[in-house]
Amino acid sequence: MACQQIIAPSILASDFSRLGEEITDVMDAGADWVHVDVMDGHFVPNITFGPDVVKAIRPVTDAVFDVHLMISPVDAYLESFAKAGADIITVHAESTPHPHRSLQAIRALGKKAGISLNPGTPENSIEYLLDQIDLVLVMTVNPGFGGQSFIPAMVEKIKKIKAMIGERPITLEVDGGITTDTIQSTAKAGANAFVAGSAIFKNGNKEIYKSRIEALRKAAGN
Ligand code: DX5
Ligand code: ZN
Repeated sequence: MACQQIIAPSILASDFSRLGEEITDVMDAGADWVHVDVMDGHFVPNITFGPDVVKAIRPVTDAVFDVHLMISPVDAYLESFAKAGADIITVHAESTPHPHRSLQAIRALGKKAGISLNPGTPENSIEYLLDQIDLVLVMTVNPGFGGQSFIPAMVEKIKKIKAMIGERPITLEVDGGITTDTIQSTAKAGANAFVAGSAIFKNGNKEIYKSRIEALRKAAGN
């Protein structure tokens, strides 16, 4: 899971009135994963999708559904998202006093487990979890909205997490403000999965998605 570079379009920036088509279009355009931002209006100040939406879009593609849960409490919803068709379920370290328990629960459901860190959360808070996870998601903006600016201070944090991960087969994903201008610094720092919402979908259409995804890959150094 950790080797190749992954481009994961965030459907938060897609046209919700055509959600299924938008997913088909980005997958046809060469995307690797579908990134689903789940927000609850409590852990973050925005509300998006629940498990029923994940279930509704599941038949559209065989691609990995990378489900980013920005919700608190979180444990009560893990099973619903697993049953709805999530492949990777990522919880925030700040969303529960017991992330270890949440990650165990995700793996017990047969899914890949991810842990995410807000920009202000230090990397050493997840060191004890490294043998329990398949993915670390470093937020490079404050979670809650698409279209925000990348926080450059996160590059050092990505480097530290990369070093902490060592040889473990853990994907290092970045999320927020990823564009052709910012992606390279994160790739050089060790990220190998890249969430992009606005940079792929904004004012776009299926003709343009392919060139946008290729431009991101190229800028990342692939
Ligand atoms: C932010 C979300 C991101 C967001 C990224 O809370 O987790 O996935 O959709 O959007 P852009 O790429 O527009 O910053
Ligand atoms: Zn996200």
